[in-house]
Amino acid sequence: MDLHQRLQWRYATKKMDPARKVPEAAIDRIVEAARLAPTSSGLQPFEIIVVTNAEVRERIRAIAWNQAQVTEGSHLLVFAAWDHYTPERINHMFDLTNEVRGFRNEGWENYRQMLLNSYPQRTPEVNFQHAARQAYIGLSAALIAAAYEEVDATPMEGFDPEALDGILDLRARGLRSVAILPVGYRQAEGDWLVNLPKVRRPKEQFVSRVD
Ligand SMILES: Cc1cc2nc3c(=O)[nH]c(=O)nc-3n(C[C@H](O)[C@H](O)[C@H](O)COP(=O)(O)O)c2cc1C
Repeated sequence: MDLHQRLQWRYATKKMDPARKVPEAAIDRIVEAARLAPTSSGLQPFEIIVVTNAEVRERIRAIAWNQAQVTEGSHLLVFAAWDHYTPERINHMFDLTNEVRGFRNEGWENYRQMLLNSYPQRTPEVNFQHAARQAYIGLSAALIAAAYEEVDATPMEGFDPEALDGILDLRARGLRSVAILPVGYRQAEGDWLVNLPKVRRPKEQFVSRVD
């Protein structure tokens, strides 16, 4: 299958086979795709928590509309965004860039100051919402990477974020949950969605051009 065939193949799997485990190497590649996702100013303001613990996933399922994929998938990826942009977090990424690239650049340092003079002064909620949008870019990269691996994945917002933050103690780490992604393998019997055609608006209703 080429990329577009895999994107047709993927769907928001409703029933996963609890007996099948996704190899850790594939999980690593899926997470790596999210780590490589672009983010605004390269701040990478989110983290992924990979949950396999059965008891923890049972507790998460209870606050996620009892969605079975949470426990029947083999891994649960939690996308959690920074709760705020602090000077420390901004400086860390700019310092890391200088360290990795081995030089300091005046334009880049001016850009750092511009962010330091604006982001931390905004409300935590505005900053969290901005960070959450970056987390969704990572979620999207992970979804495409999972399809590429022929691994099933169900993006989910159907959970209580505050309860999930409590279960994983995310607030203590300056994080807030944004989306969860059970990954595993579809169990076609018992999945009402598996054989239904994918529904998308036709291209003419989706894209317009200015040439
Ligand atoms: C951000 C986001 C949140 C979603 N939340 C849920 C969810 O909680 N439970 C679920 O079964 N599907 C969820 N979905 C799946 C969508 O309903 C599904 O992707 C959409 O209907 C398109 O279908 P397809 O993914 O099968 O192509 C979510 C999708 C996205 C992108």
